[in-house]
Amino acid sequence: MSDFLDLCLRRQSCRDFSDKPVEHDKLLKCVEAGHLAPSGCNAQPWSFVVAETPDVVAELAKCGQQMKMNAFLSKAKAFIIVLEEHAVLMPAVRHIIDSQYFAKGDLGAATVHICLEAETQGLGTCIIGIYDREGICNLLNIPIEKQFGALIAVGYPADDKVRQKTRKQLEEITRFV
Ligand SMILES: Cc1cc2nc3c(=O)[nH]c(=O)nc-3n(C[C@H](O)[C@H](O)[C@H](O)COP(=O)(O)O)c2cc1C
Repeated sequence: MSDFLDLCLRRQSCRDFSDKPVEHDKLLKCVEAGHLAPSGCNAQPWSFVVAETPDVVAELAKCGQQMKMNAFLSKAKAFIIVLEEHAVLMPAVRHIIDSQYFAKGDLGAATVHICLEAETQGLGTCIIGIYDREGICNLLNIPIEKQFGALIAVGYPADDKVRQKTRKQLEEITRFV
């Protein structure tokens, strides 16, 4: 098994965080990893908001608890928000496709880089898909029309158990030609 596949197996959605605070430097490394992600035309159509101040983190946790299943967010120690920014594409492609054509995929790549770096730092993450976007915009002075890529909860996992991955069979979803 490659080191990278091993990292992919260890990275899992963490839904129980310990009380240990997360070091600023580790959060910085996570966004550095996001910043290094590939993007269409290298447009890098993202920006990151890192919430680490306890009061702000507590408010964000409330915004993330739109669904009962996300109650665990009250124990998150930080959040990283991946925001979509305007993409400036290469002139050759600019007239063929819309500027934001690649952006959602680019933000996904940045999000995964962040989560994998967090795992290498011993941190747990959980990407949150449903949240009070307007509430977050108001809290963090983000323009209300801004598109979000992801809300990522961060903290130290409460335990070190690695769950078995539940995935479709590789043969079911892959073909070599
Ligand atoms: C776009 C997106 C939204 C997600 N939203 C939530 C969520 O709101 N709450 C949650 O507990 N997990 C959420 N997850 C985590 C997924 O449930 C998880 O990635 C999937 O079940 C695979 O498990 P693993 O991450 O542990 O490998 C989300 C993941 C993604 C990529």
